[in-house]
Order: sequence, then C-alpha cells, then structure tokens
Amino acid sequence: MAGTRDHVRFLLNDRVVRLTALPADKTLLDFLRLDEGLTGSKEGCAEGDCGACTVLVGRLHRGELVYESVTACIQFVAGLDGCHVVTVEHLRGADGGLNPVQQALVEHHGSQCGFCTPGIVMALYALYMRNPRPDRNAVARALQGNLCRCTGYESIFRAAAHFGDYGAPEDDPFLAERGSVIAALAGFADGSSVEMETDGKAFAIPADTEALAELLARQPEARLIAGATDVGLWVTKFMRDISPAVFIGHLAELKSVALEDGALVFGAGVTYSEALPFVATHLPELKDFWMRIGGEQVRNMGTLGGNIANGSPIGDTPPAFIALGAEIVLRKSGDRRRLKLEDYFIAYGKQDRQPGEFLESITVPLPGPDDIYAVHKITKRRDEDISALCGAFRLTVRDGRVAGACIAFGGMAAVPKRARAVEAALIGKPWTEASVVAAMPAFAADFSPISDMRASAEYRMKAAQNLLLRVYLDTAPAKAVAS
Ligand SMILES: Cc1cc2nc3c(=O)[nH]c(=O)nc-3n(C[C@H](O)[C@H](O)[C@H](O)COP(=O)(O)OP(=O)(O)OC[C@H]3O[C@@H](n4cnc5c(N)ncnc54)[C@H](O)[C@@H]3O)c2cc1C
Ligand code: FES
Ligand code: FES
Repeated sequence: MAGTRDHVRFLLNDRVVRLTALPADKTLLDFLRLDEGLTGSKEGCAEGDCGACTVLVGRLHRGELVYESVTACIQFVAGLDGCHVVTVEHLRGADGGLNPVQQALVEHHGSQCGFCTPGIVMALYALYMRNPRPDRNAVARALQGNLCRCTGYESIFRAAAHFGDYGAPEDDPFLAERGSVIAALAGFADGSSVEMETDGKAFAIPADTEALAELLARQPEARLIAGATDVGLWVTKFMRDISPAVFIGHLAELKSVALEDGALVFGAGVTYSEALPFVATHLPELKDFWMRIGGEQVRNMGTLGGNIANGSPIGDTPPAFIALGAEIVLRKSGDRRRLKLEDYFIAYGKQDRQPGEFLESITVPLPGPDDIYAVHKITKRRDEDISALCGAFRLTVRDGRVAGACIAFGGMAAVPKRARAVEAALIGKPWTEASVVAAMPAFAADFSPISDMRASAEYRMKAAQNLLLRVYLDTAPAKAVAS
C-alpha cells in the first residue's frame, strides 16, 4: 500500500484540482458554483430529482475511460477522488462554438426557460457519446432524471433525434482529450488512502477493502458512503452531520459481478448501471423494472449495497432479490457472515448489521426452468419515482400446480417482507385464476400497510392483491400453451 494522502485530487474539465481542505459533506454542486464560479450547473431541487445540476463523471474501468451523468447536488466532492468531472462549461464544438447537442437544442427550440437546459445538455451529451443517432426510447431513458417544467419535451426529443446532423462524436474536441485524461487518471491511481478533517468534518477514502476493514475496526461507527443517493439528501435536506464518513464507491473489489452456481454474485458497490448488462442477460424478467429505478443519473450513482444497507421499506431491489432467495455477505475485519437477505431487515430503521461491519456482496439465485418470476413497481409517476409498493413473485409451477412460492413486498410493512400467508394459500393449489382469487384475502394476514403521501393503506392492499392476479394473467396463457 502506498500510504496515506492528505488531499483529494481529480480532474475538473481540463485542469487538476488538489484539495487539502475539504469538509466531508461538501457537495459537488456547491463546490462548482460557490468555489469555482462554474455556475452553468444549476440547483433546482437539491435532491437528485430534477437533473438541473447534471455533470459527467469519467472513471477508468479496467483501463477504459467511461463517462456517466450524475447529479452534482447530492454527489460529495470527496467521492470524486481520482475522477474526471466535466461541466457544461467544458463542452464545445469542433470550431470552438456550440457542441452538436447544444446546436441541435438551439435549432429545434429545445430550450425555453433555459434553467434546466444545462442539465439536459449534459444528460443528452452522455447519450450522444455512446449513440449519436438515438431512437426515442434511448432519449426518453437518458432524460428520465431531467425535468423540464415548461413541457418543452417534444422539442427536446426532436433535437435529440437530430444531434448527429451537427457533428460526429469522433470530431468532438472533448473526446480528443481522452488520451491525456486516461494518462492523468492512471497517474492518480497510486494505491494511496486519504484521511482528512476540515472544520471538524472528517472523512477517509480507503485504497482497498483491506484498508476499509482496518478503518472500520478503528472507527466502527463511521458512516459509509457509496453512491450518496441516499446520504446526499441527509445533508441537503436534513442538514445531518455525516462525519466521520468513509467513501467506498470507488472500491474495485466491491464492483465485481460473477455468475456462480446458477446465481449472480454482485459486489455491494455495483451500481444499477453496472449491473444492468448482467440483469438483462441473466434476469431478463427484471429489465423493465430495473429501468424504473431512479433515472439515468441515479442508476449511475446508486449501488445495490446502498439500496439494501439503508434498510428502507420501499427500496426496490430487496423484494426483487428476496423473492429469488438472495443472501448477503457482511464483513468485519477478516470475518465474514452470510445471511438470508430477508433476515437482514429486523424492524423499521433496524437491520442486522453490527458496528464495523460492511456489506460485501449479494448472491441472487436465478429462477429455475419451472419458475415464474415477476416484479412490479407501483408509483405515481412512471419515471424516477419511489415505489408506493413493489411486489416480487417467484412461483414454481409444475404439472399445473404451484409447487413453491416466494413472494416479497416493499411498501406494505415497516420492512421489505415475505407474504408467507399468501404463499401458503397458493402452494399445492392448481395454478388457476380461481386459486389466485382464493389466495388474495391472505394478503390481509401478511400486511397492515400504512397510508402516506404515496398511497393509502386501502390502495396498497388492493394493488398488492391485484398484482398477484396480474402475474397470473400475464403468465398463465404462456404456461397453458406450453403444457
Ligand atoms: C432521485 C432519486 C431517485 C431514487 N429512486 C429510487 C428508486 O426508484 N428505487 C429505489 O429503491 N431507490 C431509489 N432511490 C434511493 C437510492 O438511490 C437507492 O437506495 C440507492 O441504491 C442507494 O445506494 P447508494 O450507493 O447511493 O447509497 P448511499 O447513499 O451511499 O448509502 C445509503 C446507506 O447505505 C449504507 N451503505 C452503503 N453501502 C454500504 C455497504 N457496502 N455496507 C454497509 N452499508 C452501506 C450507507 O452508510 C447509508 O446508510 C432514489 C434516490 C434518489 C435521490
Ligand atoms: S438540483 Fe435537482 S437534481 Fe440536482
Ligand atoms: S426549458 Fe427549462 S423548464 Fe423547460
């Protein structure tokens, strides 16, 4: 190990930033606007929802430079150590004028109030780099995390359909800098850890999981921060003190994904975007649902480990994974323990995690050939909305009968929870509409949901029952044909 550094360093547009005084809770948006005078990135909501603050963050991933859109308002500066941050000020066209994305927005009247425009430019630019001629679905996906309040979407979509007309990505001056950016980022990766304290707000950036384990042994109550899509709001909305913080979103060992013995094993630091190719290939039933977790920026930042560790009753992956019989590995120093994901959630705000432990991996068994697997998320708004409830169903149907059932819900109790009474009501019964309807009242034995701003208790109960019926109606014809 290369020792400890007393500063954070990263590339900001075309220059190296080196910070020796940095509070743990300094957000990237405050840093850009207040310290650097880069006011192109706007503050709309300060909670990751509107996209007005979108910037690009480039990281080296197995030697390749990958840029992703992120929301600067909930991204902490310390979490960017070793990265390349690109703001809207850095984009320009081949002639030094507007970039093709900006030019297309001008020509097609895609900017009206202009406040949300820099964020929309950055989100679309991230798309343009990968795909200069995107179809409507790709544009919609790239903009899931950007709100235009004056309903200029149609003109923005028109612009996005044409940005390839204004220049090819390979002629983009920003992309021409790639070689030097890769060299700079590779130079940053010297294997050192960071420990800093400024204004009484301390944080550490361990170089690897060994350093993390050692740090947590010394400071078992330290706050872990992976993608910061939850913790960021604790600062911007609730003014909470997050010190001492330990940033772990960069740790390569927590980013592995492997297929082992019929299960996907995700490192806890894998983001939704990083997991997507594996989900699409091995759990295709989950793909549409996956694209409804957050918006593009949140999927680029948020991790599977953060979604589980936060213990939220309305996190989306816990029910989806519990239904598949997922297990997690928690590590403390050199010791590891494995437990069923459903057992991790003890009560509201209480999880089975000891001080000094961190979540290392999640093992998600894949459905078998006789399994019906479906996950449904009910929200008020289709995109970038938190679940009112989320139902996950794995039903093993053999010879027309339910041989096994594992059903889990979020949003129906104080924790993500199995619907054991419903499962019992289905097991052994013929997989017919009559059996499903007969099992629906059993939801009342499993759940007593609450009413809140997302849904009333009655709505939640009715929707949960109907989701079971939907799973039957969606899958029964296919099964009937197969048999
Ligand atoms: C705009 C917006 C939209 C969102 N939409 C959704 C959505 O659709 N569905 C959904 O489920 N969630 C959603 N979220 C919530 C959030 O994005 C997810 O819960 C995300 O997975 C959290 O991961 P993170 O890495 O950002 O966690 P962080 O904010 O970094 O951490 C969250 C918690 O987990 C702990 N933690 C993180 N990693 C570990 C680890 N390895 N070991 C132990 N503890 C750890 C932290 O200490 C903290 O307590 C949304 C958030 C925002 C801001
Ligand atoms: S200011 Fe709204 S997402 Fe950042
Ligand atoms: S252009 Fe800004 S809200 Fe629509």
